[in-house]
Amino acid sequence: MLSKSQAKVFFLVATLGFSGVFLALTFDTMRQIPEQTNSAEISESALRGRHIWDRKNCMGCHTILGEGAYYAPELTRAVERRGEEWLRIFLRDPEAMYPGRRRMIQYNFTEDEITDVIAFLEWIGNIDANGFPFDPDMAPTAAIAAAGAEAPEVLQAAPTYYRNVCQSCHAVEGFGGNTGPALDGVATRFNEAELHQWLADPQAVRPGTTMPNLNLAEDVRTELVTWLLTLD
Ligand code: HEC
Ligand code: HEC
Repeated sequence: MLSKSQAKVFFLVATLGFSGVFLALTFDTMRQIPEQTNSAEISESALRGRHIWDRKNCMGCHTILGEGAYYAPELTRAVERRGEEWLRIFLRDPEAMYPGRRRMIQYNFTEDEITDVIAFLEWIGNIDANGFPFDPDMAPTAAIAAAGAEAPEVLQAAPTYYRNVCQSCHAVEGFGGNTGPALDGVATRFNEAELHQWLADPQAVRPGTTMPNLNLAEDVRTELVTWLLTLD
């Protein structure tokens, strides 16, 4: 049993001790906030993007940092997951990426507004949220770029357009997205003419397909087909 004075000392030491620990941890958290939120990197463009985000109520369907509605995909790491060029095509016209199933609103953004929205999403994606959300299930374009030499050799030879746009939907040797099928061995399923036709107008080849028509310029298409033919 503690005597009355011992109890008093115990109370004071414990209370002051733990208050000290609490204050130190609070101070430490406050100290880390600017670094974790990346506040130095909020550009004018990201700020404008944030206003668009609020004004258009994107959170009515999406979450960022876990906040918002669960109708549509989490967007905290959208830039890492999809890459800037993919997002640009999508935000210009969501149905261009998801033919026949437009569930996202067509906002008719200007190119500048799209730049701002992407800047905002990029800033959000760089917040250090202690690992939240978990790694995207689609291997992120940025991570593949960062992996550099570790990416399979065949991908290092891929055209830029493939890496910037196609890859966030398709995987090769396990690297890439899973919105579309893996493209390993695609040269055994399609010949050169078929690949050209497919990339020029997927709907014409397979009506109702969910592969987007990306309106590729002919030289880009040729470069892609030449490379796809190496996947055998
Ligand atoms: C009515 C609900 C709704 C609203 C509002 C909405 N979205 Fe979406 N969004 C979707 C759906 C659904 C998808 C998934 C694509 C699909 O299934 O068509 C999507 C997909 C996206 C994607 C691509 C994510 C990925 O990795 O595939 C981005 C980026 C995006 N939305 C940004 C926005 C922004 C920015 C706003 C506000 C300006 C917004 N969305 C408002 C429903 C919505
Ligand atoms: C928005 C996601 C998306 C993007 C971007 C995309 N694809 Fe696809 N792709 C798909 C889907 C989904 C299918 C399956 C379509 C079907 O079965 O009807 C597909 C099918 C294919 C096929 C046929 C594969 C097979 O074995 O049947 C090829 C080849 C292909 N895509 C190449 C490409 C190339 C090259 C690009 C870039 C120029 C690209 N895709 C961009 C979603 C995408």
